[in-house]
Amino acid sequence: MTASIDFDDFIREELREPEAYEPGIPWDRVLRDYGFAPDEVAKLDSNENPYGPAPLVRQRLAEANLHLYPDPEQLEAREAIASYVGVGVENVIGGNGADELIDLVMRLFRSPGELIVPTPTFAMYGFYGRLSGLAIVEAPRRESDWSLDVELIELLVTPQTKLICVCSPNNPTGDVVSRAELERLLSLGPLVLLDEAYAEFAHSNHTACALEYPNLLVTRTFSKWGGLAGLRAGYLVGSPQIIKKLLVTKSPVNMSLPAQLGAVACVEQKQFLDANAAKIRNERERLTGLLSRLPGVQVWPSQANFVLCRFAGRDGRRLRDDLRLRGVFTRHFDAPRLRGCLRITVARPEDSDRLLAALATVGEPAGK
Ligand SMILES: Cc1ncc(COP(=O)(O)O)c(C=O)c1O
Repeated sequence: MTASIDFDDFIREELREPEAYEPGIPWDRVLRDYGFAPDEVAKLDSNENPYGPAPLVRQRLAEANLHLYPDPEQLEAREAIASYVGVGVENVIGGNGADELIDLVMRLFRSPGELIVPTPTFAMYGFYGRLSGLAIVEAPRRESDWSLDVELIELLVTPQTKLICVCSPNNPTGDVVSRAELERLLSLGPLVLLDEAYAEFAHSNHTACALEYPNLLVTRTFSKWGGLAGLRAGYLVGSPQIIKKLLVTKSPVNMSLPAQLGAVACVEQKQFLDANAAKIRNERERLTGLLSRLPGVQVWPSQANFVLCRFAGRDGRRLRDDLRLRGVFTRHFDAPRLRGCLRITVARPEDSDRLLAALATVGEPAGK
């Protein structure tokens, strides 16, 4: 007979009841659990790129020596990324998605440490911060346009503040941080993590500011622009000192061989990916127009590959569930300030049309 163990006796306090992250539904589960054929679905819940990877990625992966370990220093991938964003190779580290790099950054700090998170935003800052024993200090964004409340952040900084997290374009609100706002935050002293996962869908980015400000760390990814969410390839741009720290604290071969090859191929086929990003930006404007003409729907302007909408008088979770039954997968939020809101990925025109058709029938019995 096995004696029972109370694992909580062994586990750090902050890990006893971690708040689980609720991701979008994986594609195979969409088909299996809901019984849809692939062409009956608009998957608009995870901000994936419907146009997929550059052709060169598949070619390089087909030729890859998968029985060999990849370069732990990720040299070719870092060189390609550095040339893509206009920094030196010593300013770049690759990761198993940007998520891994956010996690690695959170592990750097001495206790006691505080993390300032302007909410609503990407849930993983709080998630990884808590796992690393940081106290999370929320700085609510202004509800009218979801802009950062920089004055409030200034008031919230204490000697224990280690990091301020800024997502731009912000997930889920789509707004961007201005250079002036970023510089004000950088002048406060703590490190600033600027998450630019959606940079390629915005009119500008601040990645190269990391060359000027040693307390700025910028995370980016190939999941969105590069259409490689399944491959897990992200990177961080920062000062050589911080990159050195991260290179020695990461798992030795954290970035897989496919991810390293994929990153290089994306940079080589930048034009192909830029053309797809342009299609998504055009579709974003069309979708924003279509949604804002619906009665009771508010759409915030977005610089990302998604839009945040409020459906007045609706329960967000129910609306999401009703849309799912019609083959349209979107993202809802439990946060009180996002009541009645859905985040909708901008994909192909036919995906937007499917969404609009489904919205027109919500409230009637669904087909499946
Ligand atoms: C703001 C933001 N940062 C980071 C990520 C994670 O990127 P990756 O797929 O590279 O881990 C996401 C994914 O949706 C995101 O929305």
